[in-house]
Amino acid sequence: MSITIKTPEELEYMRVAGRLAGEVLDYIAPFVLPGVTTAELDRLCHDYMVNVQGCIPAPLNYSPPGYQPYPKSICTSVNHQVCHGLPNDRTLKKGDIVNLDITTIKDGWHGDTSRMFNVGGTASILANRLVTIAHECLWLGIGEVKPGARLGDIGAAIQRHAESHGFSVVREFCGHGIGLKFHEEPQVLHYGKPGEGLRLEEGMTFTIEPMINAGKATVSELPDGWTIVTKDRSLSAQWEHTIAVTASGYEVMTLSAGAPPNPFAT
Ligand code: MF3
Ligand code: CO
Ligand code: CO
Repeated sequence: MSITIKTPEELEYMRVAGRLAGEVLDYIAPFVLPGVTTAELDRLCHDYMVNVQGCIPAPLNYSPPGYQPYPKSICTSVNHQVCHGLPNDRTLKKGDIVNLDITTIKDGWHGDTSRMFNVGGTASILANRLVTIAHECLWLGIGEVKPGARLGDIGAAIQRHAESHGFSVVREFCGHGIGLKFHEEPQVLHYGKPGEGLRLEEGMTFTIEPMINAGKATVSELPDGWTIVTKDRSLSAQWEHTIAVTASGYEVMTLSAGAPPNPFAT
């Protein structure tokens, strides 16, 4: 399969799926408190998506080659967990940082977005800085998106910002094309060189979802077959939006009322 260019009508469907995914994060935010388990957050999001929004949680039973079917409806990655954190009976504690990653399917179209949450509002100075820099990385990447720009421009902007603050960029996982499929071409790396890689065209849709580590970039997989952690057990943070390339730049498809704004907006 190659890169799909979406028509204006298809983009309208993606806008709906994207907004719904953002609204799941708005809905769940007040529940992300000390004492809640990640399995409870999963159940609440599942019920909201299915019963309130009338959409399908894309992760549930998702089984890419080489993986067992994903048994939950969202991903919950806590502290040194990088991504694909499998919800379980773990109780969130004051000072934890957690990424909640939501992917909806509405009328066949996907919307994929994630945010970080500070549990109890008392994260360490390091954790707060990591979460803030990772969010800035996301928006610096988004800011590179326009027709004629290269995928390497996105990766380079993210890598430069993360590394200039002493953090590292995870290499094993990347952003991805998205549409009728959850993961399509192209792969959107969060590191690279300006001017290299695929040239962006109007109508392309993909995610940008940098995973930024406080320590080394290397990761490993837990025995649950899904959860990815930093090998050195350092903290990790990730933010994600689904983006469309427009005639003049970009459109963020996964914005919702509660989404933190672009920190560089003037
Ligand atoms: N939402 C993740 C992403 O951003 C993918 C999760 S796959 C799952 O690409 F199976 F773990 F849910
Ligand atoms: Co994604
Ligand atoms: Co995601």
